[in-house]
Amino acid sequence: MTDIEVRAAEAGEFDAVRGVFSAAMMFEVTPDDLAQQLFEPERTLVAVDGGELIGTTLALTRNLSVPGAVVPAAHVTGVGVRATHRRRGVLSRLMSRQLREVPEAIAVLWASEPAIYGRFGYAAAAWGTSYEVDLHRVGPPTGPIRPGELGELTKDEALKELPRILGEMQRVRAGVSDRSELRWQKRLEDKPDDRGGRTALRIAVHRDETGTVDGYALWRGKMIWGPTGPAYEVNLEELVAPTATAYRVLWQHLLTMDLSAKLGYGYAAVDEPLLQLVSTPTALDRRVSESLWIRITDVQRALQERQYTVPLDVVLEVTDDLIEKNAGTFRLTASDSGVTCEPTDSPADLTLSTTELSAAYLGGRPLAEFAATGRVTEHTTGALNQATAAFRSPLAPVSVEVF
Ligand SMILES: CC(C)(COP(=O)(O)OP(=O)(O)OC[C@H]1O[C@@H](n2cnc3c(N)ncnc32)[C@H](O)[C@@H]1OP(=O)(O)O)[C@@H](O)C(=O)NCCC(=O)NCCS
Repeated sequence: MTDIEVRAAEAGEFDAVRGVFSAAMMFEVTPDDLAQQLFEPERTLVAVDGGELIGTTLALTRNLSVPGAVVPAAHVTGVGVRATHRRRGVLSRLMSRQLREVPEAIAVLWASEPAIYGRFGYAAAAWGTSYEVDLHRVGPPTGPIRPGELGELTKDEALKELPRILGEMQRVRAGVSDRSELRWQKRLEDKPDDRGGRTALRIAVHRDETGTVDGYALWRGKMIWGPTGPAYEVNLEELVAPTATAYRVLWQHLLTMDLSAKLGYGYAAVDEPLLQLVSTPTALDRRVSESLWIRITDVQRALQERQYTVPLDVVLEVTDDLIEKNAGTFRLTASDSGVTCEPTDSPADLTLSTTELSAAYLGGRPLAEFAATGRVTEHTTGALNQATAAFRSPLAPVSVEVF
């Protein structure tokens, strides 16, 4: 290991960085101008062995919605180590340096395998639900479809309209990442090679009574003829509809698509309101798994950056094996006049590590869950219930994309 150097990438290393990640994840790389423009070499760490790049991790500059706020979050991706160099501690070196260096108070990622990131203090903080909807059984939302409410946008129109709606969604749920203009272009790029045999990207929108777009769905279709006739598939990639009418009308549209037998969707929330709108929720065929993993990198700042559901005054004794400044005792208060988190000498009400705080950070997991396994210890009766209620959000966090 002593021969392996870990350093920031250089501007000319985009192809080499992609080469490592694509080899580790086993996919073929094709030229990608937009991805190259989005490359942030100074925020990319590489491991180098004898001049050859053998490991990478990227931290993208993006904001994430958290309870009551939208905050900078290091969006960690592109994590890979060449198969020839696995299990020699390369990832451990990349991760520990990245987590100590990122300027943001939290880091967020999607894990290819849930066993990888817990050792670095990451915790699953949001669950995602995927659907394989049987369109013949589901019983879609009913009610009048008023002509004129639905429409489709071109990519250029979408680039103007959709960012605002995603921003509105960030106010509704935690876990939603924003997109810069360049990142939106990448999202809507729709290269034929990336379609997997499906149609070009369709951008369906709902407009409110003033004609303003207030919800959208990005989807593709696939023509399939079975022995008994058409059995097309609708592949819903993203549905963002912060208003109740847009949400209902867009789902009604998608679940009643002519010729279609199935709809796949990978980004539903665990409390997805669609469950209330269909007559047969079992026909959604739901599967739940971890989506966003959070790692608090600066406890004091992170706890101050979010809002709390009920007033809170609690002293937390926090441990952290990796980031020294996080270990300590902090008094966290939240009231109408604001949130404070300061070091204190007062006796602790709760003892826990940054991992449990990270799990609860998006408001989707109860702190009390961790008392059952001894990972949170309560010293003051009532403190755990109070903290659990304050950290919890009314709606579960959800991520609308894998980054
Ligand atoms: C996952 C990956 C990055 C790990 O890199 P690595 O350099 O082999 O990891 P390290 O040697 O630093 O391993 C550190 C620890 O994590 C464990 N670990 C690593 N990868 C793991 C995995 N996939 N599942 C379970 N444990 C894993 C190691 O066993 C080791 O445990 P130990 O400290 O108890 O000995 C690498 O194997 C890889 O690129 N895999 C394919 C691509 C991928 O899945 N990337 C992640 C995308 S989110």
